[in-house]
Amino acid sequence: MKLFIDTANVDEIRKANDMGVICGVTTNPSLIAREGKIFKDVVSEITTIVDGPISAEVISLDSEGMVKEGVELSKLHKNIIIKIPMTVEGLKAVKILHNENIKTNVTLIFSAGQALLASKAGASYVSPFVGRLDDISTDGMELISEIVDIFNNYNIDTEIIAASIRHPMHVTQAARLGCHIATVPYKVIMQMTKHPLTDKGIEQFLKDWESVPK
Ligand code: E4P
Repeated sequence: MKLFIDTANVDEIRKANDMGVICGVTTNPSLIAREGKIFKDVVSEITTIVDGPISAEVISLDSEGMVKEGVELSKLHKNIIIKIPMTVEGLKAVKILHNENIKTNVTLIFSAGQALLASKAGASYVSPFVGRLDDISTDGMELISEIVDIFNNYNIDTEIIAASIRHPMHVTQAARLGCHIATVPYKVIMQMTKHPLTDKGIEQFLKDWESVPK
């Protein structure tokens, strides 16, 4: 499974990229707003750090506006993926952008039916939101499982991005289900690096090393 980082913070992106664990980035309007910078400047800076798919989201609600924004954003860099919300207008925009060879990531997916429609329209990626489903007492990972099954049944080449990841177990569960990608906040990547027995082991090795004749 590939790992993307879910942030617009370039320091976090640099740190995760330096660890060699990520090969893509997803942003959304809320993540961009946190940075207090011009949208296109942030996205362009991200393209200089990570050489992989970088999702940038449109804010128009009509297909015409989405396509216009998508075409503009796609000119920033070859790796830009246009993030489109899962609506009827969004599907129309995905179809048009697909015909223009512009890749899309259909976001705010909360059902397998939505994922199937997005793949039919020509989406390169679909982003089911695991954590937000868990938040309303619905099993987000079950949705990943359903979409993986359906896409495997029909050899659908749209890649599934497990999004709205809240903790390390979400990542490993998505991987066990065969999900193609998880987009993970920096905090969760850091949580994944830790294990108390690793720390304890290092401490013991260094302590024992003191008795080695120098
Ligand atoms: C996905 O691409 C979204 O940016 C993101 O995963 C949303 O996560 P949240 O539910 O933590 O806001």
